[in-house]
Amino acid sequence: VSERRLSRRALLGLAGAAGGGLLVGGYVVRERDGEDDASASPSAATVPFHGDHQAGIATPSQKYLQFSSYDLDAGDAAGLRDLLRAWSDLAAELAAGRHTEAFAPASLTITFGLGPSVFDERFGLRQQRPSALVDIPPFEHDQLDPARCNGDLAVQVCSDDQHTALTAARALRATAEGAAHLRWSRAGFQRDPLPGEEGGTPRNLVGFKDGTANIDRTDDARMGSNVWAAAEDGAEWMAGGTYLVAREVEIDVDGFLAHPLDEQEVTFGRYKASGAPIGQKKEFDPVIPDLQPVSAHIIVANPHQAGSEAERILRRGYNYSLGFDPEINQVAGGLFFIAFQRDPLTQFIPIQRRLAHGDRMQHHLYPHGSAIFAVPPGIAAGGYVGETLLG
Ligand code: HEM
Repeated sequence: VSERRLSRRALLGLAGAAGGGLLVGGYVVRERDGEDDASASPSAATVPFHGDHQAGIATPSQKYLQFSSYDLDAGDAAGLRDLLRAWSDLAAELAAGRHTEAFAPASLTITFGLGPSVFDERFGLRQQRPSALVDIPPFEHDQLDPARCNGDLAVQVCSDDQHTALTAARALRATAEGAAHLRWSRAGFQRDPLPGEEGGTPRNLVGFKDGTANIDRTDDARMGSNVWAAAEDGAEWMAGGTYLVAREVEIDVDGFLAHPLDEQEVTFGRYKASGAPIGQKKEFDPVIPDLQPVSAHIIVANPHQAGSEAERILRRGYNYSLGFDPEINQVAGGLFFIAFQRDPLTQFIPIQRRLAHGDRMQHHLYPHGSAIFAVPPGIAAGGYVGETLLG
């Protein structure tokens, strides 16, 4: 995918040539004659931080995630503005591959969000709170831990290099010192394709392909109708932005895998090996609702009725694992669900309400974390994320 390839233009924009090579992050990257961008090392690939929308939303999912939620110590709008400016400047540098340590950008993206609590009395922004930035209501079966929920600010860091994601998250945390402190954080990963497996849909911790029926990120009309906020939605400052819902959902992996394969398959509504919907042959064959159990995850999530298309969300979650937990005598892990959408009130919330009530999969799921953030639009070089709100 072109945006993930090493951008020669981005490299040329960097700090000048050094001895026939280019200086990137303090390291000299040699341009080899006669080779095009595609042959360059994936670890050198960059995704531009600047643009109409923030990176890390329509960007194809990288392999690793570091997600952090912060609470603000800064007591006024000026302090919030200073932090968002410092973060934006740093994020642009990191995304371009510039860092004092040995640093491979590996398609690094950094995406910032503002939680509902930013619009309380502290910063004088109450009138600017978008109606789409709702408080996520409690759902049936939730086992939420307040220490893993919400937050004033969100920082989603993604990269194809795990150490890069961690290093970028560390640099952002250090920059926040005095202005904001960590509230919670989670690391996530994508699985490699199985040996010999074609196609890009990664599998979750229980072995099913997850992402098959996702929104096509390259479909501008669909992204415009279902993902990007517009001025006419009410909050003009959010035009070109979107709303992020995060849910930390633990999966009873051993319990689920103890079921026979056919039961696992009707639980999701798809075959495990191919990812095809029940009754079909290939992964991307259309879903035939009449052949599905009414409680299959994909049918409850998308009943294929009037209004279902408008509800569709861009899922961009990651597997997570906290290692073995002696208390439950198995791996504590699951899905760190992330979804982007234009209006959670008419998209995530009704889907999740149905799932919590009628999804066969719910018996194996333990939601521990929940959060929502307004993700402001992208910015041009020299700007800062949140400038349309904070001036
Ligand atoms: C641990 C929790 C979850 C697991 C393991 C899981 C797994 C899956 C799998 C395997 C699929 C089928 C492949 C695909 O089309 O991507 C799927 C589809 C889907 N899931 Fe989930 N999911 C989880 C939670 C959620 C949540 C919380 C939501 C939203 C509230 C959600 C919404 C959807 C939607 C909208 C689809 C596509 C349905 C369609 O259009 O066919 N899922 N999920």
